[in-house]
Amino acid sequence: MRLRRRTLLGAGLAVPITGSLTACGDTHGQTGQVLASAARLPEAYATPLPLPPVKRPAGGLIEIAQRHASVEILPGLKTEMMTYDGVFPGPTLETRRGETVTVRHTSSLTLPTATHLHGGHTPAESDGWPTDLLVPPSFNTYQVPQTGHDGHAPMADPLAQVSTGERDYRYPLDQPATTLWYHDHRMDFTAPQVWRGLAGFHIVRDAEEDALSLPRGEREIPLMIADRAFDEDGALRYPALDPELLGQPGVEDRYMAGVLGDVILVNGAPWPEAEVDAAQYRLRLLNGSNARRYELSLRTADGKPLAFTQIGSDGGLLARPVQHDAITMASGERFDVVVDFRSLAPGTTVELRNALGTGRTAQVMRFRIARRATDDVRVPERLADVPEPEKPDGAVVRRWHFRQAKVHGRKGWGINGKPFDPAVPQAQVPLGSTEIWEFFTDAHHPVHVHLSPFQVLRRGNRGPGPMDHGWKDTVDVRPYEAVRVRVRFEKYAGRFLIHCHNLEHEDMAMMAGFETV
Ligand code: C2O
Ligand code: CU
Repeated sequence: MRLRRRTLLGAGLAVPITGSLTACGDTHGQTGQVLASAARLPEAYATPLPLPPVKRPAGGLIEIAQRHASVEILPGLKTEMMTYDGVFPGPTLETRRGETVTVRHTSSLTLPTATHLHGGHTPAESDGWPTDLLVPPSFNTYQVPQTGHDGHAPMADPLAQVSTGERDYRYPLDQPATTLWYHDHRMDFTAPQVWRGLAGFHIVRDAEEDALSLPRGEREIPLMIADRAFDEDGALRYPALDPELLGQPGVEDRYMAGVLGDVILVNGAPWPEAEVDAAQYRLRLLNGSNARRYELSLRTADGKPLAFTQIGSDGGLLARPVQHDAITMASGERFDVVVDFRSLAPGTTVELRNALGTGRTAQVMRFRIARRATDDVRVPERLADVPEPEKPDGAVVRRWHFRQAKVHGRKGWGINGKPFDPAVPQAQVPLGSTEIWEFFTDAHHPVHVHLSPFQVLRRGNRGPGPMDHGWKDTVDVRPYEAVRVRVRFEKYAGRFLIHCHNLEHEDMAMMAGFETV
């Protein structure tokens, strides 16, 4: 297999990608193909916005049961899902900086999983490495090593740590307050397993943030925006090559650029409506979609735009608030924003729209101002200490090319021309070092780095873009763009991942291991 991979390497690099992008659907700011629902879709803004249940540690422990559940997403229909605790999104975990929490997952699913805390500064053994599986007890034959990208090539990982029935993930969470999320990361099958429901919020709080005047309590709302497609009977549609999720990974050719659903869910509800006070709200926006990008804006019923005040990014609060008319977000990114409904009369509405959608995917959700209210929040001018991103002299520069590549004889996606191989890391990074990483693309690739947050230094031949403020762990790299970031690797030794967060690309091998030493 090693030999074969090596021969393909050259071929992968030589694949001309011009022209093939439109063929795989790079249009309207999307890299992906719409999968249409057969189900009758509900009217927009008829479903109330749900909030996932909150779980906090008891004695340093949170328990989560991964199980199948039948969930009502489209009104009157049942959708079979893979869930954390029977709900979609999974429960929102709330923890505090520096207080180590063990999250104990049990599984009664029928497929293996690997749980990753996205944005967590986490030791390798708890990071959800894609072959460090939690295998349900019912899964008696350990089938995973017998499968691979061509259905028979073994993707052997001699270091894989497999648990049966139960697995503890230990999170020291020695990091600033922010919005993290946890989701499945099983090798080759992350996209369908997240699509089926394995995703939830994990919020980290700390004393510094508590001391700031920010909307809180009911005026702090996590919003997981994710698209899906449904069959007539409410079942999820997904173009997996193997719907059993055991053999051939990936999706039908037509969707290889990414699967875009035609139903926009927020916290698991289609185009919901939230009743709010005429007050300021903190919205923790997460793009939990497999491949869809959004350009979000707010508009009152009489057509007036409403701005977002960004206070935080993936990895914590910004140094100071930044105003935006629109927020562009790629898969995996988070934006922490404050919106101000104070000037709006009860009864009026504000739509959250998506300029990168067409027809119904241009709609996301709606806020309805229910009542007048007092509000003494004043978003401070200084939020947190974030160092100015500077290029350290003499830092190692690593280049990562995100391009189409041959993956074991099929069309797929690679990094530096290579498909993911869990047994062979692409880089060794000394702990305590600061490096410059450069990402190059052919299509839209949201590039995500595990373990350490980064700061964007350059986008193309300019400085950071409007969405690049603060600490990022995922950056939306556009077609044929080069993004340069500064990243410091600290504390945990072991194997970690860099990958594309377009989950179809990830499953079709656009992922690489790096080892911190
Ligand atoms: Cu959100 Cu490696 O993933
Ligand atoms: Cu990608």
